[in-house]
Amino acid sequence: MLERLSNKRIVLGVTGSIAAYKAGEVIRRLRDHGAEVRVVMTRAATEFVTPLTFQALSGHPVHEHLLDTRAEAGMGHIQLARWADAILIAPASADFLARLRIGRADDLLMAVCLASNVPLAVAPAMNHQMWSDPATEDNIRVLRSRGVLIFGPDSGEQACGETGAGRMQEPTQLVGQLAEVFETGALAGLHVLVTAGPTQEAIDPVRYLSNHSSGKMGYAVAAAAFEAGARVTLVSGPVCLPVPDGVQHIPVLSAQDMYDAVMPRMEDVDIYIGAAAVADYRPELVASSKIKKDEETLSLTLVRNPDILASVKRRYPASFCVGFAAETDNLEHHARSKLHDKGVDMIAANWVGVNAGDGGFGSDENAIRLVWREGELELAMAPKTKLARELIGHIAQRYQVRHKSALTGDNVLRFTKQPDN
Ligand code: C5P
Repeated sequence: MLERLSNKRIVLGVTGSIAAYKAGEVIRRLRDHGAEVRVVMTRAATEFVTPLTFQALSGHPVHEHLLDTRAEAGMGHIQLARWADAILIAPASADFLARLRIGRADDLLMAVCLASNVPLAVAPAMNHQMWSDPATEDNIRVLRSRGVLIFGPDSGEQACGETGAGRMQEPTQLVGQLAEVFETGALAGLHVLVTAGPTQEAIDPVRYLSNHSSGKMGYAVAAAAFEAGARVTLVSGPVCLPVPDGVQHIPVLSAQDMYDAVMPRMEDVDIYIGAAAVADYRPELVASSKIKKDEETLSLTLVRNPDILASVKRRYPASFCVGFAAETDNLEHHARSKLHDKGVDMIAANWVGVNAGDGGFGSDENAIRLVWREGELELAMAPKTKLARELIGHIAQRYQVRHKSALTGDNVLRFTKQPDN
């Protein structure tokens, strides 16, 4: 379970409470389990512990100020919000909870919380009278109803000498609960096949045609599907990325190899996600020895490769198929055409080339326009790992909707295997 924290990006907010000293232990436990931690301290928190302590423990400078031009140029509140996979506020003071409830954005931590859409957990720490005050109780009720996770507090002896509820939960408990946030189970019991990376189309024994796909998005999608409880097969062209934990990896080179690897495995696949940048054409003839530069010009005749995504959907119409569309122009139009032409269930479209902004091939970030028959959705620019989790959440949702309508007899034909053509 704690391995779910591996490679997760956690913003740890520390507010003004004597329990701030325990935040150091939270950082260490998070890092022990492979998480990357960025600490944001409120001004009051720095009265209890120095930022230097948390800088040493997290391995990164601590973020303190909202209106600091140097900090904003490095990683400002929007970047921090975009960077995070989850936010944990430990300790969360009574004052912080009150301000979170009303949505203030007058310090860095509040602004990060407001600018983020990732899971937000708070670990209250305060005197027991403050915790049981109706104002605090009301704040907690409202925050909980908005989806804020409330970790603790524990009961026991308090720093003020009194006894009661209001002690911050122990760091190991907090870290355990945070790991559960990443255990969605949305794809539990399903088999997901993901294709990723480029393909290589041989010209001769030393040369090939290929493209700039890094495989990062497909690998992140495979990892996110595993995290959501699926059995995952990753059929990948040549990339320089580590295989995500728990994922079955099938390396291939050409589009034909990819087709041959995918088709027989589709028998028991529930969800197919085609994130590979498959070459549309390959040289008609592959020279058996290295082509010499004897001529001024050289012509290659290219022939069409099979469209793996379209073939999968044709042959296995019961599978939920998601395609990617990397476009340099007219994103929306091309995405809708692909949805229709390939007969798939969903298209994740993104910009490449000059229109890509911070995203596209090779980048660690991306933004996606998600299109399906009845709707569409914009997934904002974010690290690919985070975007992949969002994408998997939406795929799981649409899969459940389609599955339910199929089970109620909506479209029985779609569940009959069709011959390949
Ligand atoms: O038609 P286009 O290449 O833009 O479509 C992209 C989508 O189709 C991606 O999901 C890609 O993996 C898939 N594709 C495929 N086989 C091809 C070409 C594209 O599976 N030969």
